[in-house]
Amino acid sequence: MASVLEIKDLHVSVEGKEILKGVTLNVKTGEIHSIMGPNGSGKSTLALALMGHPKYEVTQGEILFKGQNIVELEPNERARLGLFLAFQYPLEIQGVPLGRFLWAAKKALMGQSQADGQPDKKADAKALSEFRKQLQEKMKLLKMDESFAQRYLNVGFSGGEKKRAEIVQMHILKPEIAILDETDSGLDIDSVKIVAEAVNQLRGPDFGALVITHYQRILNFLKPDYVHVMIDGRIVRSGDESLVHELEAKGYDWLIHETKAKAVR
Ligand SMILES: Nc1ncnc2c1ncn2[C@@H]1O[C@H](COP(=O)(O)OP(=O)(O)O)[C@@H](O)[C@H]1O
Ligand SMILES: [Mg+2]
Repeated sequence: MASVLEIKDLHVSVEGKEILKGVTLNVKTGEIHSIMGPNGSGKSTLALALMGHPKYEVTQGEILFKGQNIVELEPNERARLGLFLAFQYPLEIQGVPLGRFLWAAKKALMGQSQADGQPDKKADAKALSEFRKQLQEKMKLLKMDESFAQRYLNVGFSGGEKKRAEIVQMHILKPEIAILDETDSGLDIDSVKIVAEAVNQLRGPDFGALVITHYQRILNFLKPDYVHVMIDGRIVRSGDESLVHELEAKGYDWLIHETKAKAVR
């Protein structure tokens, strides 16, 4: 059975200001959804609220994942359920090598390999060696040099390298539903293709994604099943891939005008 992320009439405030004004959206495993929209419309707010960022307060509505209300869950608990967020602005963390960070994240999601409270050293060593192999593979897939595993997380990485590191992380953690917040922004066309191919590789009945983007180009590679437009904290239009082309040709202005006209009516 598909796992579903159900967003119901979601209202979210940041520092007392309402940013999301009633978002309703279902994302199932097996589906790729895209959210497009002008700057400041609330796309990142949605992404961060879904993952449980403490600054983003849900004031109304629900977020259900696999039937469970997750609004009160910590980000790590949401991750353990199978949610993942690739940040629009990945943080730099001094002193923590990328490889070690990913291993810690993976271990946290796997749960400790302990029997009777005793650490199982053999199992841990095996898991670590498998992880190393997997990391190598994934870095190759994202065309990142192996040396990045030893470098501090995102420190001195270019914009594109940070985004590709997020996708390496996604591949290692294997979420059921991934939210990608403008992963394509700041990437050159080759990197967009590499990232899109990496996302497509996970595609299947056990993986769904919500891909937030400004640009048509990543969607040309991803071919989303559904496209939504967010303006001023609401989804004002949903459709299929053809909506992307309509937006590319006409911009957002017509939708902004339509939205305003509706509000006045
Ligand atoms: N942490 C924050 N503190 C204050 N304002 C915020 C914060 N995050 C988002 N906002 C405000 O919320 C609105 C929507 O922002 P955002 O969700 O980042 O939009 P988008 O990702 O669509 O560009 C903007 O007006 C932005 O200034
Ligand atoms: Mg954003």
